[in-house]
Amino acid sequence: MPPLTAVTIAPARRLHGRLRVPGDKSISHRYAMLAALAEGPSTLSHFAPGADCRSTLACLRRLGVDIREGPAGTVTLLGRGLHRLSSPSAPLDAGNSGTTMRLLSGILAGQPFPATIVGDASLSRRPMRRVIEPIERMGARIESIDGRPPLTIHGTRLHAIAHRPDVPSAQVKSAVLLAGLHAEGTTSVSEPAATRDHTERALIAFGGTVEVDGFTVSVPGGQRLAGRSLAVPGDFSSAAFWLVAAAALPGSRVEIEEVGLNPTRTALLDVLRRFGARVAVQHAAVEDSTGGEPRGTVVVESDRMGTIEITPDEVPGLIDELPAIAALAAHGGEVTVRGAAELRVKESDRIAALVAGFRALGLDADERPDGFTIRRSSSGPSSPSGGVADARGDHRMAMAFAVAALAAEQPSTIEGADAVVISYPDFFETLDRLVRPSTKLGAP
Ligand code: S3P
Repeated sequence: MPPLTAVTIAPARRLHGRLRVPGDKSISHRYAMLAALAEGPSTLSHFAPGADCRSTLACLRRLGVDIREGPAGTVTLLGRGLHRLSSPSAPLDAGNSGTTMRLLSGILAGQPFPATIVGDASLSRRPMRRVIEPIERMGARIESIDGRPPLTIHGTRLHAIAHRPDVPSAQVKSAVLLAGLHAEGTTSVSEPAATRDHTERALIAFGGTVEVDGFTVSVPGGQRLAGRSLAVPGDFSSAAFWLVAAAALPGSRVEIEEVGLNPTRTALLDVLRRFGARVAVQHAAVEDSTGGEPRGTVVVESDRMGTIEITPDEVPGLIDELPAIAALAAHGGEVTVRGAAELRVKESDRIAALVAGFRALGLDADERPDGFTIRRSSSGPSSPSGGVADARGDHRMAMAFAVAALAAEQPSTIEGADAVVISYPDFFETLDRLVRPSTKLGAP
């Protein structure tokens, strides 16, 4: 398919359908990396199809891991064991993926060779001191350009640390825990707030030992992991765009099957209930292949609409859903987010990008250092006019603007819409089917 650089979104009255979303990006990165460090083969099904997880696979291949890709998102990796990756002959390319760069830094810190990780223009602007500082305290040395990529990691024998990051970040926690696997002693991370716990669950799934005490996670070094067969659940953060659209368009009903329901990821469901949507959740049975990751079916139907205020303590549990939540404003519910300065260092400066994009679609938006308020224009017509919004190369901006554009009076254009390849390559085809329910996905 040719790249979708600009996509036109027609206004829509409702969304209807039942679907699965692509495999979870966060979980796919972790399963691939732990499979590489495990002993024996691992088979991962419903592996995330987007470019970010492809970057992780490409980096692991460069580190000597044998990886085969089968049909329907199945990936088989032959693990090499801890400390047994190979020295790469060229830099590792993390592309647009912060998770690839930060988590791999932790792994490479414990390998007996130096390696360089590069990224695209967006990733090259993102802050890496948050992983450099703790990893260097463990004994490795990391060269960077003033705390930004490219990173050259000089791996060594590591010693355990107790790390207390200032900012809650699952990527930082995971990087330190992965380095801790290679360290002498027990490494711990004490976070200021709970963040997604996929690394902890994945370590246990691969036969590892992890101790969790409140917001402190510890891993003993030198443990052996064993290859596993695991099924990745659907990505809740991708589902979020459909859940928000269904909540916002009266008469909608969207049912998402086999989606991840890890409680560190699903805070959006309460936000949608607060907004006035009807939300039903049905958990699926736990099986060996589910790797300790809850999953099930979520149904969202629209009902009433309210205003939404996201407070700073809610932000870590909603960090990737805030762009989708912002789109509720286009459909008539004012959205205010506070305490989310971290959004400025994501794939784009998401506060600036959201404010600019929503204004371009005909909404009123206030920008603050740590958040925003977005509402329908008080001077214009009751629906936003529509317009041309720039995704600024950020997949979640493209999808948030598309959901907002469904409420507009006129068709809108999303520039840079091809960014959806990062996490949801089929996003626009799926949107098409959900707004025209007579086709394949159909009404239930
Ligand atoms: C992720 C953690 C979050 C999230 C990102 C994926 C992960 O980033 O925003 O999309 O897989 O650990 P931070 O750790 O920077 O909060």
